Amino acid sequence: MDLSGKHLVLGLTGGIACYKSAELVRLLTKAGATVQVVMTEAATQFITPVTMQALSGRPVYTSQWDGRIPNNMAHIDLSREADAIVIAPASTDFLARLANGLCDDLLSTLCIARDCPLLVAPAMNRQMWMAPATQRNIATLRGDGVTILGPGSGDQACGEVGDGRMLEPEELLEDIVAHFQPRHLAGRRLLITAGPTFEAIDPVRGITNLSSGKMGFAIARAAREAGADVVLVAGPTALPTPRGVARIDVVSARQMHDTVLAQVDRADVFVAVAAVADWRPAEVSAQKLKKTGDSDTPELRFVQNPDILAAVAARPNPPYCVGFAAESEELARHGEDKRRRKGVPLLVGNIGHHTFGRDDNEIVLFDETGMTALPRADKLELARQLVAAIAQRLPASLF
Ligand code: C5P
Repeated sequence: MDLSGKHLVLGLTGGIACYKSAELVRLLTKAGATVQVVMTEAATQFITPVTMQALSGRPVYTSQWDGRIPNNMAHIDLSREADAIVIAPASTDFLARLANGLCDDLLSTLCIARDCPLLVAPAMNRQMWMAPATQRNIATLRGDGVTILGPGSGDQACGEVGDGRMLEPEELLEDIVAHFQPRHLAGRRLLITAGPTFEAIDPVRGITNLSSGKMGFAIARAAREAGADVVLVAGPTALPTPRGVARIDVVSARQMHDTVLAQVDRADVFVAVAAVADWRPAEVSAQKLKKTGDSDTPELRFVQNPDILAAVAARPNPPYCVGFAAESEELARHGEDKRRRKGVPLLVGNIGHHTFGRDDNEIVLFDETGMTALPRADKLELARQLVAAIAQRLPASLF
């Protein structure tokens, strides 16, 4: 699990977004974390400590003068075991107090007495967020090494629309998980293709394949977690975009090719995960093909699509190129052959072609030193291992 062994202090301050913190506690504990909830007086006006205690499985602390801590130093004791303090929601007032080092209640005192990272998720009305004082405080907090999560944008509880909403619990979870990942691609730029392509026959029909895009999207997320700037060129898939990833949707292999070539100059690494159609119908009918008689069947002629990976690898000064191969037999031989044929330093072989659509996978890495097997695991876990393997192999000139 993503947060196994992690202990978090979750601080709630006064804001209507407190109701989302109940869900956040559930997500954090489901991901393996233990969570100690601390609430300000104002937060208890929005959600009760009883709710937060039931969900976290631990008594909630709200007061500096709580007698339950044996040495009476709740502000020291509660954070000493913590791997991070997360404040969600963080109110305008709390951010102001934090930025100025005030410590007039338990939560603010915990924050100033901490020796672990602090992550805050602002939640407020858009004018409060845009207020020069708030922006000044946010800049101060960033300068002090505090991580700011969000805020999001959209409908607000007050009826207005704009920036300042607390991120959704799932988004917060993704950011908190990312915070604990090693940042071995910090500052690197990755270009990734993912998903199937769709090759039109007529305005309503076409040819595609069973690729779900899950592996490519997992690699995009893992690379982002590792600190990379990620551009994801995605064929047709309904998967949600990983947080912080720039996504460009395409349909056909030729669109994917043109988009990749327009982006590739800015990339340090190119990872071709997409299951690109090798062929497309030679002619696309402008009108829907009509059935004219019972025995009548249309004939389709095909032409070859451009090989995107080979085209990128053949460029002068190419990015570090990683290819994928789904082989149904003799992966060891075909994998290395394909690596050489495509002219790439690293090729990832899927064991079998049954990986399409699944949440787990089993892969083999081929490079000039031989092959390394990565045993069956969740696609995100494998993606993190692959990102680490890429980081390790990047030429020193890229750093
Ligand atoms: O040749 P094959 O399709 O087996 O090679 C697979 C690898 O090449 C994958 O990395 C895939 O994304 C890439 N590819 C490509 N453009 C194509 C066909 C495959 O980038 N037209």
